[in-house]
Amino acid sequence: MLKLPDLSPLLPWYEQNKRDLPWRHTKDPYRIWVSEIMLQQTRVEAVLPYYARFLDTLPTVSALANAPEALLLKLWEGLGYYSRVRNMQKAARAVMAVHGGQFPTTYEDIRALCGIGDYTAGAIASFAFDLPYPAVDGNVLRVTARLLCYEQDILSSAAKKELTAAVGAEVGKLPPAKINQALMELGATVCLPNGTPRCEACVLREACAAHAKGLETALPIRKKPSRRRLEEKTVLILRAADRVALQKRPDSGLLAGLFEPFTLAGKQSEAGVREVLAAWGVSPIRIAPLGDAKHIFTHLEWHMTGFEIILDEKDTTRLPAALFFAPREKIDTVYALPSAYRAYRAFM
Ligand code: ADE
Repeated sequence: MLKLPDLSPLLPWYEQNKRDLPWRHTKDPYRIWVSEIMLQQTRVEAVLPYYARFLDTLPTVSALANAPEALLLKLWEGLGYYSRVRNMQKAARAVMAVHGGQFPTTYEDIRALCGIGDYTAGAIASFAFDLPYPAVDGNVLRVTARLLCYEQDILSSAAKKELTAAVGAEVGKLPPAKINQALMELGATVCLPNGTPRCEACVLREACAAHAKGLETALPIRKKPSRRRLEEKTVLILRAADRVALQKRPDSGLLAGLFEPFTLAGKQSEAGVREVLAAWGVSPIRIAPLGDAKHIFTHLEWHMTGFEIILDEKDTTRLPAALFFAPREKIDTVYALPSAYRAYRAFM
């Protein structure tokens, strides 16, 4: 097994240099869980307002278990990966049903909850309960790959296994909550990605195998993921007075259950859009092009063009049945909209 150097110098360094983050002031597993799921997908600064609002609104597992889906999606709006918050609710319901409302206190029971993988289970078990489990996220993969001068692709599952095992062997020798957080913090603030590690500020510099060989900027190795699929679409912001036409996305798949404006496949010209409206028997009061926009998902890119279309009230019943008209002010409070449509949001 790979053997990491002594990590104990990280502890005093962490105490002196750690960022003051709200989830570092709690041992409540529910709050730690919420923070970790949010941090899987978004930078710390962007998570802060979401974290505060989510916990103000849903302060307990029981509140999450009982929340209406629309509220969940609204609280998550803009974070992306909506299945994560849906899985959190499933897990919260399991905590209520199986664990009597008490968050489970063993690694195995935590890991068994919906949406909680090895990383999140290790983070909750160690941060909340000081159990000696590794919590290896992207930051820790990078830190350990450099410490060990590990030259395999760190995105492979074999690499994750090996590096996680290496951390697992150390985490019982030191306070688990502190050492896991300290490794993450070193990765987030010193052992930086993209060829810019600040080795001069690193307390583990002398013990770092990559630094000794001058390979710290070349490591870690990350094999490029395959190219994203491109999808072109035309977004129609259909409005009548103070209302906007929306439809609900299917209950499974990409952005499941979120609300969106009507879309056509492909990038259509204004003439093409007018043809579609004519086929519905609708004569718009006004059509204005809203320009192009792009949204990048993990495996997919949407290349969009948009049109604002003002309708006469009498034409609103002629649209496809899936569309309904929502009052504009409700879009801010009720209907969760994917941020993929951000460029067109101001026209809704
Ligand atoms: N990224 C993931 N988990 C984190 C945490 N607990 N603190 C800071 N950054 C993180």
